[in-house]
Amino acid sequence: MKPVLVSGIQPSGRLHIGNYLGALKNFVDLQNSGKYECHFFIADLHSLTESFEPEEKRGQILNLAADFLAAGIDPEKSVIFQQSRIPAHSELAWILNTITPMGELARMTQFKEKSEKFNEKYIEDLNLRIKSGQPLSTEEALNSVFVRLSVANVGLFDYPVLMAADILLYDAAVVPVGDDQLQHLELTRTLARKFNKKFGKTFIEPKDLLTKTPRVMSLKDPAKKMSKSQPESCLFIDDSPEEIRQKIARATTDSGSGVKYDPEEKPGLSNLLEIYAALGGKEPKAVAKEFAGKNYSAFKAALSELVADYFADFRKKKKELLASGSELATVLKAGSERANMAAEKKIAEIRMKIGISLNNH
Ligand code: ADP
Ligand code: TRP
Repeated sequence: MKPVLVSGIQPSGRLHIGNYLGALKNFVDLQNSGKYECHFFIADLHSLTESFEPEEKRGQILNLAADFLAAGIDPEKSVIFQQSRIPAHSELAWILNTITPMGELARMTQFKEKSEKFNEKYIEDLNLRIKSGQPLSTEEALNSVFVRLSVANVGLFDYPVLMAADILLYDAAVVPVGDDQLQHLELTRTLARKFNKKFGKTFIEPKDLLTKTPRVMSLKDPAKKMSKSQPESCLFIDDSPEEIRQKIARATTDSGSGVKYDPEEKPGLSNLLEIYAALGGKEPKAVAKEFAGKNYSAFKAALSELVADYFADFRKKKKELLASGSELATVLKAGSERANMAAEKKIAEIRMKIGISLNNH
């Protein structure tokens, strides 16, 4: 049997080129390599941890399903499903909660970043105090931890445990993700080990699989990663050629004029060279060589054309898929039924291992 591969994306906004080069493109390449039994899902339960409108959620789910299919994920080759349709994800997350120390979750970078948004003002004041050389008293330090915990929703805190359940439920050997998810995968392995030790060998410890571009940077601020939560930093993969041209023309590049690949000295330009290289199947240094002697604007014009052409077919297919909404729902339903069969089998084994299963049901 081929090794199992699992990955998910949250339906929380349009996909950007970081999501594509860090995750979705890899999903398609790995699927087509024929080496894995692939499962790709829409992490709708995870996406409830950020603010949303119920009437928007259905559209976001269908939109992501259209992204998957238009990019080349094929329901004949991979299981494509919706996380919330498979009750065992939530059940396993609960079981794993009972072996997860709160301290492990409180130190997760993604949790810290996202929970900070819930109380920016408070954190800002604390940071000012620390910077001005007034250290916090023990009581204040404890308080700051408490505030962070109390303002953010519990789902945001527990996010990595649900993610561990998503992975362990399918005995996944490999998980393709961008580098911001590595800490969550480390926790997944820790929980698998801990569970196996306590209840007997049940789970596989999954490995991460990164692409050559595991961290595409923001177009506005090359020190930060491109993120859906900052739409102005993003090049969306369904942007029109005109939007692509405008965004790339305005992307922050560094002073100087020669095209050179130097992530330290020229992070903005190097990020654009990496995007060019990843889409064209080349090395960033080779791309820089091609454009040596040309100015930034000539390179930016060539990059805009490459991106617009690269995604032309994708844009067309996505439009067609969205126009026939029922096809997307049908694919998700069939995939979710398949995933549910595997998940039900595994969760029955888990219930047995921890002793909550009576012999007759
Ligand atoms: P975002 O951080 O933009 O909200 P998601 O959390 O939905 O995106 O991420 C979906 C996938 O895309 C994950 O595997 C994540 O690691 C990857 N990813 C997100 N941002 C980037 C980026 N800037 N560069 C590379 N990969 C990324
Ligand atoms: N946490 C991932 C993200 O923010 C999405 C995700 C949820 C995921 N469950 C997963 C990715 C399981 C890989 C495997 O991008």
